[in-house]
Amino acid sequence: AAAQVVVVGSYNQDMVWQGARFPQPGETRMGRFFSGPGGKGFNQAVAAARLAARTGFIAAVGRDPLGDNAAALARSENIDARWQLCSEATGTAAIWLDGAGQNMIIVAPGANALLSPAQVLAQRELIEQARVLLTQHEVHPVASLRAIEVARAAGVTCIHNPAPSSDSPQVRALLQAADIITPNETEFCDLLRLFEVEVNEQALAAADAAQLHTWCRMLPTATIALTLGAAGVFVSQASPAGEDPPFFRTPAAAVNVVDTTGAGDAFNGGLAASLASAPGRNLQQHVAFAVQVAGCAIESSGAAQAMPTLAEVERRFTG
Ligand code: RIB
Ligand code: NA
Repeated sequence: AAAQVVVVGSYNQDMVWQGARFPQPGETRMGRFFSGPGGKGFNQAVAAARLAARTGFIAAVGRDPLGDNAAALARSENIDARWQLCSEATGTAAIWLDGAGQNMIIVAPGANALLSPAQVLAQRELIEQARVLLTQHEVHPVASLRAIEVARAAGVTCIHNPAPSSDSPQVRALLQAADIITPNETEFCDLLRLFEVEVNEQALAAADAAQLHTWCRMLPTATIALTLGAAGVFVSQASPAGEDPPFFRTPAAAVNVVDTTGAGDAFNGGLAASLASAPGRNLQQHVAFAVQVAGCAIESSGAAQAMPTLAEVERRFTG
C-alpha cells in the first residue's frame, strides 16, 4: 500500500556525550558516551512509523558501514526507504547532553548535503501518493524544495520543519510552498529576520498570544506551529478551518526530562502521522497528540530510539 507519510531528510549517526554540566571553552569534563541513529529526517520517519502511519523516507548515506546500518534500521522500523548512496561519508552528529537532559549539537552533514533533486524526482510516485510530506533543513535545500513542489501539485499536505536554522537562498521558497511550518524559538527569530522583523528570544518569551500571532503572520506560511519547549506550542493560522480559532496555545506535556534530543522531531513525526491517519481530528487535536508524542520522546534516551509507539502515546493521550 502507498505510504501515508513521506519524509525527505537527513540520516545521522548520533555520538552522544553526557556530563553533569556543559564544559566551558578550554575546560575538560568527564562523562558517559552512547551512540545511536538520528538525523532530523530519520527521527521524524521513525516517529511516524512507530505511530502506525505507513512511512516512506528519501535520504542519502555514504557507501560505508554506517550507511549499511541505516538501511537495516529502516527495514526493522518498517520504513520504505529510498536511499541515494554517496561517495561522502554518512552524516554524523556530535551531541552534548547535560545532567538536565538539555543538548548542544554539531552536525557534519556528509552525504545528506548531496541528496539530489534527481533522487527526489525518481521517487515522485511515493510522494504523490502520500497524505503528508515532511521536510527539514538538514539535506540539500533544492531537494526539499523539489519534494514540496511535487507534493503540492498532487494535493499532499506539506509540513516543513525549518530546523536547524539555515541561510540558504531557498528558505523563503520553502516557507512559501509549505502548508505548515514548525520552527522552535531560535528558528522562528531567524526566519523573522529574513523578513526584516527583529525579535529576540527574550521578547518572544515575554510576548502574549496576540503578539505571537502578529509575528507569525509576517511569515508567508498559512499555518505556523511554533514549538516553545516547556511553554508548549503556539499555533497561528491564516485561514482556520471548521471550529479551529486563528491562534491557540497547547501546553507541553508534564514530563520527567531525560533527554530532549529529538523532541522536535517527535512533534513533527507525530503531527504528520496524526494528519495522515486521523483526518477526523481538528488542528487542536492533531497538535495535542503531537505534543504527547514529544513528551514521550523526552522521557527516554537517544533520538530515533526514543520515539514512542502508538500504544505508548495512547496511554497518555485522551483528546
Ligand atoms: O533533532 C535531533 C537531531 O538533530 C539529532 O538526531 C542529530 O542527528 C541532529 O540531526
Ligand atoms: Na530523547
